[in-house]
Amino acid sequence: SGSDLRDRFGRQVRYLRVSVTDRCDLRCNYCLPKGFDGYAEPAEWLSFAEVERVVAAFARMGVSRVRLTGGEPLLRRNLVDLVGNLAAIDGVRDLSLSTNATQLGKHAHALKRAGLARINVSLDSLDKACLNSVTGRDSFDAIMTGIMAGKDAGFSPIKLNMVAMRGVNDHEIERMAQFCLDEGFILRLIETMPVGDTGRNAHYLPLDDVRPQLIERFGLVSCVQELGGGPARYWQTADGRGQIGFITPISQHFCATCNRVRLSVDGTLYLCLGQEEKFELRPLLRAECSDAELEAAIRAAIELKPERHEFIEQPAKIIRFMSQTGG
Ligand code: GTP
Ligand code: 5AD
Ligand code: SF4
Repeated sequence: SGSDLRDRFGRQVRYLRVSVTDRCDLRCNYCLPKGFDGYAEPAEWLSFAEVERVVAAFARMGVSRVRLTGGEPLLRRNLVDLVGNLAAIDGVRDLSLSTNATQLGKHAHALKRAGLARINVSLDSLDKACLNSVTGRDSFDAIMTGIMAGKDAGFSPIKLNMVAMRGVNDHEIERMAQFCLDEGFILRLIETMPVGDTGRNAHYLPLDDVRPQLIERFGLVSCVQELGGGPARYWQTADGRGQIGFITPISQHFCATCNRVRLSVDGTLYLCLGQEEKFELRPLLRAECSDAELEAAIRAAIELKPERHEFIEQPAKIIRFMSQTGG
């Protein structure tokens, strides 16, 4: 329709990723700065009312999928209230959450009741020592408890995100795949992106190096069914009951079908994960702009959306951290 959001390359924006905090209780080595020691409490964070206003504006312009990210979104106080209000917005049909699951044991049932449709959980290892080392915290037990609480609350299917890192967790990929197939989770393997100077992109593992053995071991066939709105390409077991997704921003990027933009906690729209283009909505929101002005600003922002990412590692081109834009 005339109100749809289309960029200069004809791509329709249907998916908004909303970061509700840049804080995280874990210290994943590929995500945060070395020696990172927490942030000060910022006045720039959008209130829930401001987030809801932006989401409603996007929804009027054809965005039906909204994903809450962070940092760790469950660290944002009263997140369940935001979930309830976003789920009630006209046009929002797929409200989802990307979480590290450490707090999911506490919140899974309330999130489900509030209208959250789906959760994706980061899980880089099933080995306690390895996971604790990647996350920089003694987090293994809380995470596994959280994942099972999510399952118990009725989220189905839950996707488990595993950033594939050579020499760190690559020896665990088959075991993780087996675990997910057994438990009814969808495993997604992700190529590590050089976002922020984490100094850890040496672990990059092209997924072409692991896909063939997974196909062989689990008898996978490629899967055309849409499983969410994201960039993963899925393979499934012969009986169609289990899926494994591959997210390959580096070896085979998916920008031609990109459908998303990102709202950071301070009200900045980021037009691409791997580019600097951005548009500040906060000044407008705080100047009590009209809905028409807000929509016009969003349209102006979408005009800035670049054709594709160009990640450059040395020197890191994208200096903001993943914890800022929510992956
Ligand atoms: P679904 O709706 O379930 O498909 O979610 P999703 O895969 O889009 O979201 P999730 O937060 O689980 O992200 C999984 C991985 O995909 C993370 O590493 C993200 O950084 C990455 N990712 C998601 N969207 C994009 C994108 O537009 N570009 C790039 N380069 N990576 C993305
Ligand atoms: N490269 C790829 N994926 C990343 N994530 C965080 N940082 C990176 C990175 N540098 C993933 C997390 C989480 C998802 C939202 O983003 O594993 O599951
Ligand atoms: Fe879209 Fe940028 Fe992601 Fe490519 S890297 S899919 S253009 S957000």
